[in-house]
Amino acid sequence: MLRIGVCVSGGGTNLQAIIDKVESGAVRNTEIAVVVSNNAGAYALTRAKNHGIPAISVSPRDYETREAFHGALIETLDSFRLDLIVLAGFLVVLPEELVKKYRNRIINIHPSLIPSFCGTGNYGLAVHEHVLERGVKVTGATVHFVDEGTDTGPIILQKAVAVKDDDTPESLQLRVMEEAEWEILPAAIDLIAGGNIKVEGGRVLQTEQG
Ligand code: GAR
Repeated sequence: MLRIGVCVSGGGTNLQAIIDKVESGAVRNTEIAVVVSNNAGAYALTRAKNHGIPAISVSPRDYETREAFHGALIETLDSFRLDLIVLAGFLVVLPEELVKKYRNRIINIHPSLIPSFCGTGNYGLAVHEHVLERGVKVTGATVHFVDEGTDTGPIILQKAVAVKDDDTPESLQLRVMEEAEWEILPAAIDLIAGGNIKVEGGRVLQTEQG
């Protein structure tokens, strides 16, 4: 059984997609051990509680220094003995110690086709604003392993979504979520739970099994 911890900051629609697919069996061999948020008011925490999943807030506001907050975050995640950490709209830049400790055991969903429209300044709705400003015709979403950079880790899955002439950032955000994010994030967890991928030379490759 793959024990996952999901880190969230906001509404948690990606978390909901994971919960639904774990419950339906579409994501196999996976247990959501905990949901952690840096924001005590995140609706994602309510979603977790509604499904009987431990929901914990570790907020920087409760700590005097960034180091103390980072320490508490790592301690909380460690205490659940997780096989995989899933960043599902988590607004915190991860401490390097956490990235090193969980090398190739942290994944993130990003709402564009990396390496386009990623890195610092490309988060949430801003990504879709930049996509529309640039006038590209195809965007999408990416699931990748987290390394020390911003959106630079090995790519696991991507899905393309067409941009329409009359899209607003909001309409595009919703379509990218519906058509791409809510599919590929659970699918990546299922691949990892099945032992069906490996990381080699900075690339994610499918293995023979499964
Ligand atoms: C999602 O669109 C996710 O891709 C994005 O935040 C949103 C969270 O929504 N993440 C990033 O932009 C990371 N750079 P949710 O709370 O409803 O899942």
